[in-house]
Amino acid sequence: MFSPIVVNPALFLLLLLSSSEFRPVVESVGINYGQVADNLPEPGKVVKILSSLGISKVRIYDTNPKILTAFANSGIELIITVPDDMVGRLTDSDQAVEWVTANVKPFYPSTRISGIAVGNEVYTTDDDALKTNLVQAMVSIHKALVQLNLNTSSIHVSTANSLAVLQDSYPPSSGSFKPELVNVISPFLRFLAATGAPFWINAYPYFTYKDSHNLVPLDYVLFNPNVGMDDPFTKLHYDNMLYAQVDAVVFALARMGFGGVDVRVAETGWPSKGDSDEFGATAENARDYNKNLVVRQIAGEGTPLRPDRRLEVYLFALFNEDLKPGPTSERNYGLYKPDGTMSYNVGLTASATSAQSITLTSSSQTALTSTASASSASPVTPITYYWITICFLTYQCLITFQIK
Ligand SMILES: *[C@@H]1O[C@H](CO)[C@@H](O)[C@H](O)[C@H]1NC(C)=O
Repeated sequence: MFSPIVVNPALFLLLLLSSSEFRPVVESVGINYGQVADNLPEPGKVVKILSSLGISKVRIYDTNPKILTAFANSGIELIITVPDDMVGRLTDSDQAVEWVTANVKPFYPSTRISGIAVGNEVYTTDDDALKTNLVQAMVSIHKALVQLNLNTSSIHVSTANSLAVLQDSYPPSSGSFKPELVNVISPFLRFLAATGAPFWINAYPYFTYKDSHNLVPLDYVLFNPNVGMDDPFTKLHYDNMLYAQVDAVVFALARMGFGGVDVRVAETGWPSKGDSDEFGATAENARDYNKNLVVRQIAGEGTPLRPDRRLEVYLFALFNEDLKPGPTSERNYGLYKPDGTMSYNVGLTASATSAQSITLTSSSQTALTSTASASSASPVTPITYYWITICFLTYQCLITFQIK
């Protein structure tokens, strides 16, 4: 009788991964490559580390030409950043053309620049001029990309926001922007919708845990098994805080009429060390948070509100950064130490001898097989918008009812 050969999918995958011609990268795990340090490896070495980890998306906080050059032909997507102090100048269209000519054009497309983050967490600074200039700078940069024939469908222009732009984030359906920010944020959201760019959020459940560890269950924050919470209005179930925070942003956008804008996590992470008053900053928690998130990323998960759309996440950060000011935690977000050894194992493991092979821990292997067929961001279905609208309207009605 014919006996079928049973192939262990994880094994099959390992075989694929070790072949040099066909080396799929883990699609959606991104990482932030900060460089506020005096002891980091050369960019060329960093590219090798990233490739060996199968990391395909990276964000940097400047436009360092050494890095842009080192990433050429690596296949790794790169988000670059316009520093805050250049935003004012780039409101001028000639200056924006000059900037794109110097910082994007010479490197693209061999370096896969996928985004330009204009400033960082600008809407939560107290610099009013910066806030007002931000959208005009984004518009000028976008126009400059068009004028220089660069592909604006693959180079998104946006800015990363702190979660502090929200007035409410719990439960997720109560998500709304701070009233005082609505006027400056409206034109920004119009720009995102018009250009198809994402809303980038820097979301750190760690901060919430640090400040309210007596109220928030640690396992809920760390993606460990836990009872989770139900949103009383949408009835959606949340088993972790990060997804709840992201959905709160989706609701805030929907309240402003921009429910169709894609929300992506530009930064999230957990420090492995902190001062005595930095509750929860331990190596064990950092490992659990990042490892559990990586497993979900590899599985291609979306949030409860947008389950069919893989949530794009950039971990913070690749390396510990010894020159960062502030509390001890600030210098200890790295998954890697500057010498390239792991601070803790998150399940993405570089082979010791060859940068070409990828070894994933067993917990990730089975998850990865399901990703292969899930492909990249599937478009959100009309039915999801329908439900967002219904939830939104229901909630508004509830509010109105309560006010009356
Ligand atoms: C521009 O980028 C989009 C998205 O990556 C791609 O589908 C399209 O083919 C690109 N267009 C050109 C002219 O390269």
